[in-house]
Amino acid sequence: MKGSSLLCSSLFGAAVGAASQSCLEEATDITLTYGYPLMPFVTFAVPAIEVAKGANRFEHYRELATADFHDVVRANVDTLYSVSILDWTHHDLIVNVPVVKDRYWVFPFYDAYANNYVNIGSVNNSTVGKYVVRFDPSGKRQPGLQLCSQSRNEKKLRGECYGVDGYINSPTAYGILLPRYALINGIPEDLQQIHDLQNKSGIHTIEAGQRSKHPRAPLTISMLNSSISSNPATRIRQLTARISPNSPPRNVSDSARVNRIIREKHGQRSNPATKPAEPRHDWDQLTFQAQGDYGTNYLMRQFVAYRGYLGLTQSEALYPSYIGGDSGQTLNIGPKEAYIFKFPSKPPLAQYGFWSLTACNAEQFLVSNALNRYALSDRSNITYTDGSRVYGGDAHADDSFELLVQPADLAPPNNWTSNWLPAPKGGGAFSLTLRFYAPSDALRQGEWSYPVVRKQAAIVA
Ligand SMILES: *[C@@H]1O[C@H](CO)[C@@H](O)[C@H](O)[C@H]1NC(C)=O
Ligand SMILES: *[C@@H]1O[C@H](CO)[C@@H](O)[C@H](O)[C@H]1NC(C)=O
Ligand SMILES: *[C@@H]1O[C@H](CO)[C@@H](O)[C@H](O)[C@H]1NC(C)=O
Ligand SMILES: *[C@@H]1O[C@H](CO)[C@@H](O)[C@H](O)[C@H]1NC(C)=O
Ligand SMILES: *[C@@H]1O[C@H](CO)[C@@H](O)[C@H](O)[C@H]1NC(C)=O
Ligand SMILES: *[C@@H]1O[C@H](CO)[C@@H](O)[C@H](O)[C@H]1NC(C)=O
Ligand SMILES: *[C@@H]1O[C@H](CO)[C@@H](O)[C@H](O)[C@H]1NC(C)=O
Repeated sequence: MKGSSLLCSSLFGAAVGAASQSCLEEATDITLTYGYPLMPFVTFAVPAIEVAKGANRFEHYRELATADFHDVVRANVDTLYSVSILDWTHHDLIVNVPVVKDRYWVFPFYDAYANNYVNIGSVNNSTVGKYVVRFDPSGKRQPGLQLCSQSRNEKKLRGECYGVDGYINSPTAYGILLPRYALINGIPEDLQQIHDLQNKSGIHTIEAGQRSKHPRAPLTISMLNSSISSNPATRIRQLTARISPNSPPRNVSDSARVNRIIREKHGQRSNPATKPAEPRHDWDQLTFQAQGDYGTNYLMRQFVAYRGYLGLTQSEALYPSYIGGDSGQTLNIGPKEAYIFKFPSKPPLAQYGFWSLTACNAEQFLVSNALNRYALSDRSNITYTDGSRVYGGDAHADDSFELLVQPADLAPPNNWTSNWLPAPKGGGAFSLTLRFYAPSDALRQGEWSYPVVRKQAAIVA
């Protein structure tokens, strides 16, 4: 799983040198806004197709990331993944979803532009079983999920429902399926259980229900990678030319408009909407409704493809960034400094929800440290100041608790050890990623105050 590292990070962001000025100017072009997500799509899809030896096959990732793992940036140590690049140009697909008990899991379906248009998983209490996943070249079928159990009055669907649980209609002829299963406690037996689930999942091809009038090009490495320019703007145009004829715009009635703006190549520059609002001071969170499935908001789609490629819709996960005091997502810590994250209470989560705070170094890889601890989470043995466990301990009032982030070579006193998340040795640039999976409505609606963060001298014995 090669990652979502960015090829033209200067299309956005703080570092705008003279050399990247032309790149930035190009970014004002709607063609580039529209096609931008195809760049991380290719970065992600080429190695995935290569490893799985083709599209429509799963590659299962069996181990959690460690500091030595450099395939993806800002990896999480909460879930195991399976990856498949999907291609409907010559087939429909059947996806088998295994019975997953007592843990967060999701089968997220993304279109070629990284819209997360369907999630089958624990948040939605989804039916497990067989789903037909298909693409309608005529564009007449509404993209999304049709459950057989809810379609008794749809005569046509009922006839098709023999032996399957539902239909998933993809908006584009190519896509990504990225199942995730949460680890409950990280012990080897739990990994085994997830491996078993991965082994029970599956994809196979069936004859396409709807034939296209025009032959569509199958998704191959050469289609995505041959003679591709190293110039990001040229690259986006090349990829749009190769991919978009096989993957029409999401909103079909919008095709004319998109085709026109792509042809005319005019556009305006504006800020992707982010909404830093109380009670999230010092925290930056994408407008929730916009996260994951972008409709015709191509600017937001581009921004998220840049910042958090393959993000899930907000009912599955929230990814707030701590931005206080520094620019962007990068923080800076002195060799003898610490950040303290004061959580007012346990984050309120829905069924099987979990949270984690993960530290990455300047290269966005997990921080190497003697404890091999890459994250603190609801599954860590974090404690209140009286030493009792925040999670899994005796009943305790839902008090505040503090997490300590300080360099890996500055061990704190013993009573802090279980609440210590090591930052890079000697300090320097690093990043912290807070993730909430299966957030509660209260959390999504901003009714929980985000942690208050303070920078101070390191805590040493
Ligand atoms: C959740 O399930 C309902 C049917 O129970 C379905 O209509 C809806 O699309 C699902 N949500 C997602 C995000 O897939
Ligand atoms: C799923 O089930 C849980 C537990 O029964 C319930 O709290 C939740 O509201 C359900 N979610 C949906 C989308 O039906
Ligand atoms: C899953 O499949 C792999 C490869 O076929 C096999 O090595 C492994 O033992 C299986 N694991 C489980 C838990 O079924
Ligand atoms: C993709 O293209 C680049 C540049 O031509 C080449 O170095 C690389 O090996 C190609 N990747 C694959 C998987 O073919
Ligand atoms: C689809 O596109 C049309 C034309 O641009 C627009 O009027 C309509 O609001 C769009 N529908 C959705 C659901 O985005
Ligand atoms: C938490 O503590 C228990 C024993 O008290 C230990 O077995 C377990 O491995 C610890 N978990 C973590 C994530 O450190
Ligand atoms: C550790 O002990 C110190 C001194 O008693 C106290 O101020 C601090 O809150 C404790 N930290 C934790 C995480 O228990």
